[in-house]
Parts: sequence; C-alpha cells; structure tokens
Amino acid sequence: MKIDTLLSPLELPALAHRDLRGTVCVVFDILRATSTFVTALHNGAAQIIPVSEIPEAVALRKNNPHFLLAGERDGVRIRAALSGGPDFDFGNSPREFRAEKVRGQTVVSTTTNGTRALRACAAAKLVLAGSFLNLLATAEYLAAQKPAEILIVCAGTGNDVADEDVLAAGALAKLLMARNVARPSLMPATETALNLWQAAKLDLFYALSLAKNGRRLLALPDLRDDVAFCAQRDVFNLVTAMSPDGALRRL
Ligand code: MLT
Repeated sequence: MKIDTLLSPLELPALAHRDLRGTVCVVFDILRATSTFVTALHNGAAQIIPVSEIPEAVALRKNNPHFLLAGERDGVRIRAALSGGPDFDFGNSPREFRAEKVRGQTVVSTTTNGTRALRACAAAKLVLAGSFLNLLATAEYLAAQKPAEILIVCAGTGNDVADEDVLAAGALAKLLMARNVARPSLMPATETALNLWQAAKLDLFYALSLAKNGRRLLALPDLRDDVAFCAQRDVFNLVTAMSPDGALRRL
C-alpha cells in the first residue's frame, strides 16, 4: 500500500490531471467541513451534497425545495445578502447538525475549502470524508479494504496548509502502520505529516488552537466550542464516502 499526502490546497487543481481511478482519497478538513459532515451523517442525515460554489447550492435548493442549505464563507453562515437566494439553514458548525434537525434530510453544503477538496477528488475510485471524530473507523475500513494506493487530501485554510489537516493525515498513517497494512510505504509528504503528529498528539486541542483556523474560530464566541468538538477522538463509529452521484453517505 502506497500512502501519499497532498498537504496544500494549492495542489488541488493538479488532481484534475492525475489518474485517480485506482486511488482511494481520504479528505480531511478538520476545522470544520469534514468533521461537520461526519457528525451530520452520524446524527442521521440521509446525505450531504458538497458543492464548490454558492450558486450551485442555491440552484439545487430551487429544484428541490426540501433540501437544507449549509455552508460558510469566512467561517460564518451564508446569509441571503451573500447567497442571492435564501438565508442558509446551517453554517458549518458540527454542533448545529443535531439529530432532530437533520434526521432523514438531504443537506447541500458549500464551504471555503472542504467541499472544494471533496469535489476535486470526484474521479477517484473511492472518496472518504475523514475526521478525528471517526478516525479509527476510517483506518479500520482502509485496513480491511487494503487499497493499493491511498491519497490523503488536506483541504487547508484558504490557500494555506492547515496544521490540523496535516495532523490528521499523520494520525491516519500511524494507525495504518500499526495495523501493518501490507507494509505501507509512506511518501515523503506523509512522513512529514506523521512526524508532526508524533510531536503534537499529546495535546490535540492545543495543537488545533494554534492553527490558523483554530485561532479564528476561538475568537468567535458562537464558534469557539467547535475547536474542542473537532478535537475529539473516535467518538463516532462510522465511515463516510462520496458516491458516484456526488453525495456523501455513511457506508
Ligand atoms: C472550510 O471548508 O474551509 C472550513 O471548513 C472552514 C470553516 O468552516 O471553518
């Protein structure tokens, strides 16, 4: 098993020219998109449809009035003034996606980095949305599947590498190595992630609070608790994957 890692969101456009047909992509946007989607699916959402741009989300809602709209720009919920359509039903805080609000629902989401990273992987053999919340379940699924090639995709913050996504990449590599999955061969970017994880793992919340998006969220009173929420390890036992139709569902 070869495990490569895409560390920077600036590398995402190049994925369009890469043959991903034999690759399993694992996308991490720890703060917060993939943590939020994992939470929503754990709480019973039927599916999440990640889209890159706000107009795509608004158009989907127009054609499907029962779809719920979610997403952020600059970390905060998209309002009518920005969407040119309705106020969105949710922002991108995992704590908003409670069972009573999402059970059985389809949620269309557009976020600054996370949904774009998922869309950029659409040509892959399989696309998983990962988080610390379901890291062990994701690792065990991969260990059972034994794909020849895994590409861990760190969604980033704006155009920047996001520490928290790189830490998750390192933590996943560590779990796969511990399972001795066909002696995974780590590509250099994955080794970097693994080394950073070894240094930061003793206090994940502290590491997240130093990261660019961690600092931004901690400065927003309504959103600061999202950092501690997303730093929880293995509280959900589910694996979430993007189907060929572009929707994320639990496997
Ligand atoms: C993103 O997709 O860029 C993030 O999840 C931003 C956030 O909600 O904090």
